[in-house]
Amino acid sequence: MNLTVRTANLVFMQIEKVGIIGSGIMGSGIAEVALLAGYQVTLRSRETANTYTMVEQVKRSLSKMVKRETLTGSEADEAVSRLELTTDIRDLRDSDIVIESVIEDLEIKRELFQRLDVLCKADAILATNTSTLPVVAMATATKRPDLVCGIHFFNPATVMKLVEIVTPITVSETTIDTAISFVISLGKEPIRVKDEAGFVVNALLFPYLNSAICMLERQVASMEDIDRSMQLGCGFPMGPFQLLDLVGLDTSLRILEALHFESRSLASVPAPTLRRLVAAGRLGRKSKRGFYDY
Ligand SMILES: NC(=O)c1ccc[n+]([C@@H]2O[C@H](COP(=O)([O-])OP(=O)(O)OC[C@H]3O[C@@H](n4cnc5c(N)ncnc54)[C@H](O)[C@@H]3O)[C@@H](O)[C@H]2O)c1
Repeated sequence: MNLTVRTANLVFMQIEKVGIIGSGIMGSGIAEVALLAGYQVTLRSRETANTYTMVEQVKRSLSKMVKRETLTGSEADEAVSRLELTTDIRDLRDSDIVIESVIEDLEIKRELFQRLDVLCKADAILATNTSTLPVVAMATATKRPDLVCGIHFFNPATVMKLVEIVTPITVSETTIDTAISFVISLGKEPIRVKDEAGFVVNALLFPYLNSAICMLERQVASMEDIDRSMQLGCGFPMGPFQLLDLVGLDTSLRILEALHFESRSLASVPAPTLRRLVAAGRLGRKSKRGFYDY
């Protein structure tokens, strides 16, 4: 894939190579989406073992598509051949766009943005997949704040259509236009949002998820029945506890903390049970145990 964005007949940004940092739930999913759209993808993980897990995961996911006949075997092989896995962040230096998707921790993300700024091409876009953190704080960790924005995918990234394009006050319109065109080229639907904690979806979703945990603590109904209620009564594809386990309880806790830090709303004060589960290492599906066992 070679995405060239044109405006008033001027070519101003070209994306061929996509760099991704973080091989967790979201980093892997975003890599797969970019591969399927035809991009050259370099994914950097801290540990070699994680890169092996990641490539196996992508192969498994693509082979399911081959079985469903939405992809041919040779297309799947070709997509995997465009994936480069590395533990060395310097391998992202040729990327036209880098999407950071590591743990939801502002200091860690700021430090990564500082490093990316030094090693990446001067005109590369640096994007974050943060769920709630201020994108402007990552932008100002670099000397190219006009080229930093949020590109927020949803979980699972391969399935969910929406992508929030987060616009810190430091970003240029060219960067946002390029990010929007890039997301469209991935087959997703972008919406433009302000750089405010939780953006649109998580600002609405997480107070609801947190309320479900508080409801469980008050023993209004069992966990299974609360989940069934929202599925059968509201037509939601998943109940709140199933969704919390899918997102990851550590990530959910950090999202609520960031929402509360900015909004001071009582609805976003993390329920004590959530803190206890995270402290116990019960992080949801990714650790095979969260509200439910897997
Ligand atoms: N889980 C979701 O539903 C979801 C949805 C949209 C966005 N996000 C956002 O995506 C980002 C990643 O979330 P995830 O769900 O993939 O998490 P995850 O726990 O699955 O993966 C986190 C990744 O961060 C890496 N990491 C941890 N500490 C690090 C450090 N000190 N330096 C560098 N890397 C480190 C881990 O090795 C792992 O690859 C977060 O910003 C999160 O808010 C998550």
